[in-house]
Amino acid sequence: MLNIVLFGPPGAGKGTQAQRMTDATGLPQVSTGDMLRAAVKAQTEVGLEAKKYMDAGALVPDQVIIDLIKERVKHADAQNGVMFDGFPRTVPQAEALAEIVEVSIVLAIDVPDERIVERICGRYSCGNCGDVFHDTFNPLPKAGCGCSTFLEKRRADDNEETVTARLEAYHRQTSPLADYYQNAGLLTVVDGDRDIDLITEDLLKALN
Ligand code: AP5
Repeated sequence: MLNIVLFGPPGAGKGTQAQRMTDATGLPQVSTGDMLRAAVKAQTEVGLEAKKYMDAGALVPDQVIIDLIKERVKHADAQNGVMFDGFPRTVPQAEALAEIVEVSIVLAIDVPDERIVERICGRYSCGNCGDVFHDTFNPLPKAGCGCSTFLEKRRADDNEETVTARLEAYHRQTSPLADYYQNAGLLTVVDGDRDIDLITEDLLKALN
């Protein structure tokens, strides 16, 4: 069983790398951000609760997230392990995760704050297949995305004001997790301020 945590600030490239590593490892990408956005779209109770935090760039309460993860890891596709993307994000979430599955490795993608705003404000994805692109750094290839019909989608929280709040939340609540996982001997840090392919290579090397 291989349980990978992809860790890093908003816009570090967790989702981009998770999609590539899913192809390479066969593990499902479990993104709490994607799960919350699906809940918001479906207007479930969790979605309605989460939306106000997400719109403000704040973290959704731990117990909401932990309950989502407990349910998600019961799915058949998670039986050989999971690639967690954007979870855990607080020490209480990490402690809860340790009770649910054994974390094999934490891959931290290190990107300086000054790169984050430009990355997030230029992001778009395909609303059908979920492939992630960037206006400048990673444009949609001529051949298209992973599905036959590209449908451009931009996230409601991808604006400068919310990004600033998300970065603040990251430094205050999430970055202490690096020490938590370093002390547990699980942390590998990869320089995320480089070409996307080079980062994927290093992340895959860290798994071997
Ligand atoms: P979430 O959806 O998890 O957002 P995030 O952590 O802020 O991360 P992002 O998805 O913005 O970035 P990413 O690292 O995946 O980067 P990407 O690959 O897209 O969370 C959203 C909200 O939900 C949170 O604010 C919170 O409210 C809530 N939430 C979610 N999980 C939670 C939890 N566990 N606890 C509490 N609340 C939670 O890349 C970004 C852009 O850069 C793309 O355009 C990409 O093409 C480009 N790019 C990628 N790599 C490179 C590169 N190497 N060089 C240049 N450009 C690059």
